[in-house]
Amino acid sequence: MTARTLDGKALAGRIEDSLRVEVETFSRLEGRAPRLVVVLVGEMAASASYVKSKASAAARVGIDAEVVRVPATADTEALVALVGALARDEQGPADGILVQLPLPGHVDTQRVLDAVPADRDVDGFHPENAGLLSQGRPRFIPCTAAGVQRMLVDAGIETAGKHAVIIGRSDIVGKPLALLLAARGTGGDATVTICHSRSENLAAICRQADILVAAVGKPGLVTAEMVKPGAAVIDVGINRIADPAAKGGSRLVGDVDFASVAEVAGSVSPVPGGVGPLTVAMLLANTLLAAELRMGQGPR
Ligand code: GUN
Repeated sequence: MTARTLDGKALAGRIEDSLRVEVETFSRLEGRAPRLVVVLVGEMAASASYVKSKASAAARVGIDAEVVRVPATADTEALVALVGALARDEQGPADGILVQLPLPGHVDTQRVLDAVPADRDVDGFHPENAGLLSQGRPRFIPCTAAGVQRMLVDAGIETAGKHAVIIGRSDIVGKPLALLLAARGTGGDATVTICHSRSENLAAICRQADILVAAVGKPGLVTAEMVKPGAAVIDVGINRIADPAAKGGSRLVGDVDFASVAEVAGSVSPVPGGVGPLTVAMLLANTLLAAELRMGQGPR
């Protein structure tokens, strides 16, 4: 292996260290900690595990996190009503409100997400926050996209003038990340291409990338043949695959075939321990920002 491994877990730890100090200051000034409410619908194991990591990371930096569990049978109206009640602080101050996705198939996800007020939308999914990001004046940036940019900046990987290719056009990762990398300033000024399931000549486009980001949820999608020698490869995929040799009979892999890509790339992010922990750290940062904006403190 020649590539440098981009250690997201270590970086997330450093971000948590500085957030802990800022959260302490907030709590001293306001007489209460910032508070995050996470709505978890149903029993999906992956969602339950992500929510657990979010809650324990919040606890580590002094943010109060509450998980509101709702049965999978809840309908759109009930979820919209629940989010409305949270936004009225009926169960205590909710500086940040996050509805864990995906929601069950019978639920109108857009309507539920739209019920989260823009000023508590720590996921950055509300149209107002998406609009602010697209205009280059971001408030809450979607956490995974923010985490990828942070990882590049921290690793000293130049983005200005470089070609960034993003595989995946989701509202959660692909689209906001494209905006961030193309925006002016640190971690931006890149030439950005978005590829997706209808893209022709995917491998040829990827081979042009100085920075290649895979965010589709397909194990092994990115192979060494798709990577320019020396490129930075960021793996956003989190896929659980069967592996009889692993504990519990399965293990987590990304969208990148790590072993082969690491022979060609200059740097590559692992799964687990890459972008995942940064997504959580960015959520904590957004929650503190939401609390500060709400209490009129403004971001520090
Ligand atoms: N499910 C997978 N990623 C995310 C995310 O960033 N936010 C929410 N709310 N749900 C998710």
